[in-house]
Amino acid sequence: MESKAFLERLRKFDAYPKTLEDFRVKTFGGATVTIVSAILMFILFVSELNFYLTKEVQPELFVDISRGNIKMKINLNITFNNLPCAFLSIDAMDISGENQIDVEHNLYKQRLKLTGEKVEDEPEKHEELGDKSEELVEGVKKELDPNRCESCYGAETDDKKCCNNCEEVRDQYRKKGWAFKATDSIIQCKREGWADKMEKQKNEGCNVFGYIEVNKVGGNFHMAPGKSFQQSHVHVHDLQAMGGEKMNMSHTVHHLSFGEEYPGIVNPLDGLHQIDQKTMTMFQYFIKVVPTTYIDVSGKAVHTNQFSATKHSKVVGQLGESGLPGIFVTYELSPMMVKYTEKRRSFMHFLTGVCAIIGGIFTVAGLIDSMIYHSARALQKKIELGKAT
Ligand SMILES: *[C@@H]1O[C@H](CO)[C@@H](O)[C@H](O)[C@H]1NC(C)=O
Repeated sequence: MESKAFLERLRKFDAYPKTLEDFRVKTFGGATVTIVSAILMFILFVSELNFYLTKEVQPELFVDISRGNIKMKINLNITFNNLPCAFLSIDAMDISGENQIDVEHNLYKQRLKLTGEKVEDEPEKHEELGDKSEELVEGVKKELDPNRCESCYGAETDDKKCCNNCEEVRDQYRKKGWAFKATDSIIQCKREGWADKMEKQKNEGCNVFGYIEVNKVGGNFHMAPGKSFQQSHVHVHDLQAMGGEKMNMSHTVHHLSFGEEYPGIVNPLDGLHQIDQKTMTMFQYFIKVVPTTYIDVSGKAVHTNQFSATKHSKVVGQLGESGLPGIFVTYELSPMMVKYTEKRRSFMHFLTGVCAIIGGIFTVAGLIDSMIYHSARALQKKIELGKAT
């Protein structure tokens, strides 16, 4: 008896009193509202689920006080549409005073035809680039004396009195600040077929790819025609070897980034195509690097960088513009750092969202349904009244 009274009392807490089935009416209007609201519910549920399954990325900004990561990798993939690899030299310098002249390691140059196809380097052609240790005398190959000492054509210095190949003659000329032209009067160059080599590559492009490792301070790197060298603390490019010809500096930046990739990174210069019609154009890129840490859901951190870039170009030699043709990239590091933290969305929020969708649509649909039902009834009554009178 006791428990029955308790159950009776519990029943009073029912917030959903039921009406008897007999008093319910099913209408076509109600059915339509039900179907429409079910579809709506489904669509909203799917979008909520979709939102729940994506990851949330929270950005934070603070002053970069990390002392690690002293080095920074600059990844690049740039194609010069009409500049031979043999003419191109790449240098990196930074404000700490470190100079990387004619960067070679980790950076590769691929010769391209003007159409963009790769030029396969034939092995015997490759040899021409280094020094040759044999000579062709009247069609017969003759070993050169390894201890020979050939003339530098007046460019000898105290520490270097012999120039045994064309490159060395060229270096000595450069040290003296003399113009160098690989003519046949320089035996070393004639032997190595320098003029031929330059001539052969004239109608080629060059794809430069790889990375440069630099100190994490501001600096610049550039790709410019002509051998670069340091002459009384001034960085000079030797444009003489090209015979004063105008260079076409058109290029495409396929990729340029400062560090590793992370999901959603945008490298603003990727895909940029710059055309140099007037020839001898100096393309400058001013870059602000923002150190970035990306922490994914599993807690793995990627320490990398984003950047923003502005570009500028000018024609060298016109209107008294000074400068060198080529690509000059100046980068600065921002003292602010961005940290992105990837997070899974809260399941509780998802549940709340789903309940809100179901409950909300159910209630609104109920209101609409009763509105339709009652107005239909009122209309019917009016019609009936009209008939009676
Ligand atoms: C450089 O970019 C070109 C064009 O997008 C691509 O075909 C080539 O594979 C890239 N090179 C490297 C080493 O990623």
